[in-house]
Amino acid sequence: MRKHQNISYCSFLFTIGFVMLLSCQNTSPKLEGSSIIIERKVDSLLDLMTLEEKIGQMTQVRHFSDIQKGDVASKYIGSVIHTDGPLPGEDALGWQAKFVELQKEALSTRLGIPLLFGVDAVHGQNTFSGATIFPHNIGLGATGNPDLVQKAARITAIEAQATGFNWVFSPCVAIPYNEKWGRVYEAFSESTELTRAMTKASIKGHQGYLLDRTTVMATAKHYIGDGSTDFGVEGGNTTLTDNEITERLLPPYRDAVTMGVGSIMASFNTLNNQALHAHKALITDTLKTKMGFDGIVLTDWKGYSKYGKNDIINAGIDMVMAVDGDLELFQQGLKKGVEQDSVSQDRIDDAVKRILRQKYRLGLFEHPFPDATLVSKIGSSDHRNVAKQAVRESLVLLKNENSVLPINKEAGKIVVVGEHANNSGLQSGGWTISWQGKPENYKGATTILEGVKKISSSKIVYDKNGTGKHFDAQVAIIVVGEKPYAEFFGDVNNNTGFTLTLSKSHQDYIKAYTEADVSTVVVLISGRPLVISNQLKQSDAFVAAWLPGSEGDGIAEVLFGAYNFSGKLPHSWPESVNDFQGRFGPNFWDDTIKPLFDFGYGLNYEAIVKVN
Ligand code: BGC
Repeated sequence: MRKHQNISYCSFLFTIGFVMLLSCQNTSPKLEGSSIIIERKVDSLLDLMTLEEKIGQMTQVRHFSDIQKGDVASKYIGSVIHTDGPLPGEDALGWQAKFVELQKEALSTRLGIPLLFGVDAVHGQNTFSGATIFPHNIGLGATGNPDLVQKAARITAIEAQATGFNWVFSPCVAIPYNEKWGRVYEAFSESTELTRAMTKASIKGHQGYLLDRTTVMATAKHYIGDGSTDFGVEGGNTTLTDNEITERLLPPYRDAVTMGVGSIMASFNTLNNQALHAHKALITDTLKTKMGFDGIVLTDWKGYSKYGKNDIINAGIDMVMAVDGDLELFQQGLKKGVEQDSVSQDRIDDAVKRILRQKYRLGLFEHPFPDATLVSKIGSSDHRNVAKQAVRESLVLLKNENSVLPINKEAGKIVVVGEHANNSGLQSGGWTISWQGKPENYKGATTILEGVKKISSSKIVYDKNGTGKHFDAQVAIIVVGEKPYAEFFGDVNNNTGFTLTLSKSHQDYIKAYTEADVSTVVVLISGRPLVISNQLKQSDAFVAAWLPGSEGDGIAEVLFGAYNFSGKLPHSWPESVNDFQGRFGPNFWDDTIKPLFDFGYGLNYEAIVKVN
């Protein structure tokens, strides 16, 4: 067991118990009263519903791609998901208008039950061009600052509401075991304790007081074992023992439930070859019964056709992402299951109650439409300042020799190298504007090069492809890293082409400038620790910058000493690709593999040099 996981199980249980005690003590008579009222409303509404209306509530569709006009009303749809990119040519009010149109359709039905609108806002409202985009969770993990994570989630909630959403599929509370997994960056850390702290902060920030129209329902995902599959395969098989699940993976979910998280998404992976979507023991017995979760358990993408159809409902799934052709299959299949007694009416009622409960908690029956006055807050300077603070605090200084950092702002000539230095799409990774992200600048974002130009009075030259040979420069800031990816596209294997090392051309950028004796600062943009042992030796300074999001200029502020480094590694850092031979290795270290840098490593300036 690694050092940071050395907390004993007893002290863990004690902490959980203490948190639960506190949360019970905090339950005011007023809140108890309001939840009794909500339960009464849920029961009365449920009594009025037909089977078709109940199954409709359990259905989530992708707007416009999965439905025709009129389907929301005629199929009694309960929720709409938006995933990929902007709707062309529309501003935030345009987005709101689309959702208003669908909401009106839902409200026109006999019982007028409003829709939940969900979005993958996993680092800010990242599907909207012009929104404030935060560092991905791995960077937030590096800040070690739960208050900041809470603020980031609060802002994400406001910007999500401003674009028409009342539900986000975030935070991802995975504990990644292997850097080969393409979703390492979506999780806060390999440490259960750090993940717990960030999970609590994130849910508090997103949900706050749910009735407030600037908050959203959050989703803890993906339940459970998403990040611990053998060899880091997205949606693969996890072979952990019950004890490992309980001690390492469940604690963030316990915290999420204690914090009142509104929904939990089931995971694509199997556990000891059993699909999580159909895992009754973990969904119903553990999550709902033992842990007392009273919110919605949602499938992942096409969960119905992919994982055992009605078995998943019997296991405890409450809402189905009935996308990409699953709509009729789900609605008819479940109806048949109930008629033939293979799914009980009680199970359906339990699912629908959970969905209605959250709709009441969100205040959707009173305020079903988005608030148009929130639009001015999207990408506001207040929001961007918090995101920039997160960028600064996420940077982890791995090496600083020969006094290269902080860079003197009057250094003479500075060369900034690499396409990642001036491309906000590359610096933001997957889940940015579009699902897989794109190597293109997007609205409102700043880049590292822009930050350098802003802060330094030196002559700044840009060598995009590392072939400019500006060997007369006093300092080279070389920005290298990964291309954007999301989900299985980012797994390290022969099909995706992703490796755990830098590309040959990026290695050459560093080689060229270091061999020419230019002082070099390497900035690594990546969704996971990469094997960079040789490049680390070559360079004078090395910074892990993760995937900073829209405020790239925040990086320059730290490189030039306007702020100190404070980030600490949220993952142990691998030394060699050979460390990845094992099933889990080496991220979730067994003690036979020695990391290059331990979890929690991070240097800083001894004295802070104020440049402004
Ligand atoms: C991902 C989820 C995401 C969902 C909806 C799935 O493929 O695994 O994390 O929330 O799609 O976009």
